[in-house]
Amino acid sequence: MNVLEEVIEPVSASAEAEACSLDNYLALPDHTMDERIAAARRALGTTTILLGHHYQRDEVIRFADFTGDSYKLSKIASETDAKYIVFCGVHFMAESADVLGHEGQQVILPDLNAGCSMADMAEIGQVEDCWETLLRAGISAADLVPLTYMNSTAAIKAFCGERGGLVCTSSNARAAFDWAFARANKILFLPDQHLGRNTGHAMGIPLTDMVVFDPWQIGGGVSPERLRAARVILWKGHCSVHQRFLPEHVDKVRAKYPGIKVIVHPECRLEVCDKADQLGSTEKLIKIVKDAPAGSSFAIGTEIHLVHRLANEFAPQGKRIVTLDDTGCLCTTMYRISPQHLAWALENLVEGRVVNRIQVRDDVKYWARVALDRMLEIRG
Ligand code: 13P
Ligand code: SF4
Repeated sequence: MNVLEEVIEPVSASAEAEACSLDNYLALPDHTMDERIAAARRALGTTTILLGHHYQRDEVIRFADFTGDSYKLSKIASETDAKYIVFCGVHFMAESADVLGHEGQQVILPDLNAGCSMADMAEIGQVEDCWETLLRAGISAADLVPLTYMNSTAAIKAFCGERGGLVCTSSNARAAFDWAFARANKILFLPDQHLGRNTGHAMGIPLTDMVVFDPWQIGGGVSPERLRAARVILWKGHCSVHQRFLPEHVDKVRAKYPGIKVIVHPECRLEVCDKADQLGSTEKLIKIVKDAPAGSSFAIGTEIHLVHRLANEFAPQGKRIVTLDDTGCLCTTMYRISPQHLAWALENLVEGRVVNRIQVRDDVKYWARVALDRMLEIRG
């Protein structure tokens, strides 16, 4: 069973048949959607809130009521009274909104193919096997906190919640580590090895005290002795967008633009983060640029839509923004949310049809909520 089958309640066949066909929308050019999206938003009024992650394309994000990083958007989802939350982001974000939402709210992801390759690198069965391996190695469950990055399935968030763990985002990973180390000596960090390593490294944990657990190898590919000795056990997952940035890109951009500041997302490799001037979640990267004096220059290591948007927005203030590597850093799954998908989802809502609803199973929801609530309590 794949992740989508596990947690989504499919739209009923009759509702599906009634829904305006998506193909009719996909045949039309982007710009023809603008007025339709705006009209549907007006018709839906306060019943509907549209959330947009910073990696969304311009043609989509301009319609968002709120934009943000994963933390900010999950907080807004937990506070809104809107009946419908249309999430222009990826699957795990919509799942989290459903977990955090109130009774009667419905979350819609305009394209169900908008997943996340990093989240797909940790399946619940693999994580359960890993946990067993750690216990068999002699690690006590009481001494181990499972901590998952927001970029994971609801089932993994629930796994962490049920075992005394929590969720974090790139904006509060440090606070989540502190929370976990106040309760135990070890962390199992899922699924992004880079965010886990960068966070541990910034806290002064030696690299030799962090091991990488490979779910595709017997025993994670790590000896029981090393598992017992480690302070942080990192899952072997990564973001295919951010892992493309290399230390030599930093050297190259510094040589080309003397004095330029390099700012990167903490999903980048340690070797890149070590060479950068600052790290931050998408929201923080935006703030760094915004707060900088006119005439500043930045090379940014994150998804290209955000970098381009910042370059255009801040050019009039004389700020130069370039991408850290111009050979391709597009999040193809974020890109799945097109104006056509958004218009289709909204116009169906206007007609009273909910398409592409994301609904997490109640048993999964309970413990995922525990893990997400712990995150919202610590902030960071
Ligand atoms: P943030 O927006 O929370 O920094 O996350 C970036 C990201 O990769 C989302 O998938
Ligand atoms: Fe997932 Fe990376 Fe895309 Fe974020 S940027 S949604 S982590 S693939």
